[in-house]
Amino acid sequence: MPNKELDQTLVLIKPDALKNSLTGYVLSQLSEFHTGLRFAGVKIVHVTRMLAAEHYAEHVGKVFYDSLLEYITGNIHYPGAPEKQRVIAIVYQGPDAVRKLRDIAGPTNPHQARDTKPGCIRALGTVAPLKNAEGRIVGERMDNLIHASANDTDAEREIKLWFRPNDIPPAMQGYPTRESGDHFYFIGNRLLTTHEPGSVLIVAPGDIVWKSDLDALQQHFNGGKAGTTLESVVAKYLVNKFLEGKTST
Ligand code: CDP
Ligand code: MG
Repeated sequence: MPNKELDQTLVLIKPDALKNSLTGYVLSQLSEFHTGLRFAGVKIVHVTRMLAAEHYAEHVGKVFYDSLLEYITGNIHYPGAPEKQRVIAIVYQGPDAVRKLRDIAGPTNPHQARDTKPGCIRALGTVAPLKNAEGRIVGERMDNLIHASANDTDAEREIKLWFRPNDIPPAMQGYPTRESGDHFYFIGNRLLTTHEPGSVLIVAPGDIVWKSDLDALQQHFNGGKAGTTLESVVAKYLVNKFLEGKTST
């Protein structure tokens, strides 16, 4: 970001932090007084499988992947209680936002966090063994309270994945936007420009959309090669609309 004041990072206060009532503690660690950073966007999100899978796409196939999706969707900490399954998603803004937040979050593994960086947020997390069908321990699930983008490229991808431009005040938006001239609807895994029963309106004419999202929607609709998956664009438009199952995969 040429203007360091517009540096941004995505923070997620994960379901274990909510379950353990650590929200206030986490937010106070991240306050402008401590970090010099400001809130640019905040929302409470019931995380769909689609959003979880896009957010953690880099971890597909790893031994902890399935349980990571169960964790971030709230199924581990609030099983059978969709009314409690949510994360708090925050865009933080200001000079060196990514580095500052990674620093305050600490190492991924809470045991390592306690050993090497006492006082960091993830030092308050837990580690649970992962077992295979025979009951043998095959890995670890790290419940580490908070997500913070790893670098500027990830921050841009993740902020655009979780937030629409108008979730963020215009002067705080860090990435180019465009006004849509079309309707886009989503059903199953398909994109439409006219309504079909059961489809969900994603974008209407006049809506302000991330430029990269609108480019991707047009490329997907025209059957061309888009740099991003359709799901990575539509996931944020589906969250908090209904419980899983209607249109998501
Ligand atoms: O979150 P961070 O970028 O520090 O770590 P990551 O390697 O990108 O992993 C993403 C998330 O997967 C972690 O924050 C953990 O919650 C989880 N994870 C896990 O459960 N078990 C592991 N062995 C590694 C990561
Ligand atoms: Mg990561």
